[in-house]
Amino acid sequence: MSRASGRFTVLHLSDVHATESGLLYGAVNGLEQLERVGAYARATGITPEAVIVTGDLIQRGNAGAYAAVDVACRELEAAVGAPVFTVLGNHDSPVHARALRHHNLNHYGVHFVDGYRIIRLDSHAGRLDATQLDWLGETLASPSPRGTIIALHHPPLGSPMPVLSKQGLADASALLDVLEGSDTRAILAGHFHHVLTASVHKIPVFVGPSLAYHQIMNAGPAAVAGHAAPMFSLVQFTDTDVSASTIALTAPEPLFTQPISRVP
Ligand SMILES: [Fe+2]
Repeated sequence: MSRASGRFTVLHLSDVHATESGLLYGAVNGLEQLERVGAYARATGITPEAVIVTGDLIQRGNAGAYAAVDVACRELEAAVGAPVFTVLGNHDSPVHARALRHHNLNHYGVHFVDGYRIIRLDSHAGRLDATQLDWLGETLASPSPRGTIIALHHPPLGSPMPVLSKQGLADASALLDVLEGSDTRAILAGHFHHVLTASVHKIPVFVGPSLAYHQIMNAGPAAVAGHAAPMFSLVQFTDTDVSASTIALTAPEPLFTQPISRVP
């Protein structure tokens, strides 16, 4: 799709939670999920222009997994034919994540793909510091031909789940102040392990689902729980619009399948 249809497609992945060895919660292999996304995209004919992974690349305490995450990202890049950009989440280790490509100097940075400016921000601490916000303001001072896509782990708003309602970016208003009047087309985030679509200060926000486990939305007012439902998103831009679609890597058996006649 993508270039042929005039849509700039971002394969949006999040919350991989890779482990050094063994399975997360006895069931989840984050590295394998990255491989499955590549296979899914190839089988389905999805040809993104960029892949963005919005944090929690590893499960906390599994810093030894970064080398394998880096390999998996390079393999995914080769599988889909598009660059892979990563940001850090609260589970990530800013020290050990320097093993990742694009992370050797800073955990934030700017990249250009087909006229779109992709800005990676580092919110592993739950907030963005003044140094990073100053850098962001300077970077946004001149517009990019087709606008800017902001990628960070913590969404600049809370989740509708009461237990996660205060788990968004701590200094969201400071970020939104810097973005005010800029050419930002969308903010891509993760962290909640459930999809959330919003408009904040008139900027579209797409919180992607997790590749590791999906939030169970009725776990109660004082608990979180997850189930094995790995998903990712396609965020597609035209010169004027943006949309996002969620895709599940696993699905129940179909209730029905029937041919449809094409509408002229
Ligand atoms: Fe996570």
